[in-house]
Amino acid sequence: MFSDRNKYVLAMFLVGGFIIYTFQLYNSLPVKQIAVSQAADDGKILWQKKNCISCHQIYGLGGYLGPDLTNVYSKKGAVYISAILRGGTNIMPNMDLTDSEIEELLAYLKDVDQSGKADPRTFTINTNGTIHQ
Ligand code: HEC
Repeated sequence: MFSDRNKYVLAMFLVGGFIIYTFQLYNSLPVKQIAVSQAADDGKILWQKKNCISCHQIYGLGGYLGPDLTNVYSKKGAVYISAILRGGTNIMPNMDLTDSEIEELLAYLKDVDQSGKADPRTFTINTNGTIHQ
């Protein structure tokens, strides 16, 4: 039905289109690079060791006894968070964290906060399927 030459032209057209589209897509991704500090790194390890995720969620994933903490840093602030971590509440246990451990957890929660939003209802979806924050 198609001559070999036409098949060759069609294949080149598809390969070319694939390469151009891939290049364009990877150049337009709204990727924000965030430099992770040592404190935030340590905070993440502490977050895992103390098993905060058993009661809290990040991006909606985790336990459901406590609230989602993805954006707690920008919503409630460092002073509020350190007060909760220092004393606990009626429901959340006081974990006897040291001042430096609290600083590390704050650095981690600050980084998580900058990485995105927890509530999908606040997302605007771009025409190419990516998410505008
Ligand atoms: C046993 C379950 C549990 C664990 C483990 C836990 N939390 Fe909580 N946390 C809660 C609950 C429940 C609340 C809500 C407190 C309230 O309303 O009295 C809370 C509240 C908070 C808040 C305030 C959130 C807000 O929006 O007001 C922060 C911040 C927080 N926790 C951080 C942590 C961190 C960091 C860890 C790990 C070191 C941790 N929690 C471990 C149950 C837990």
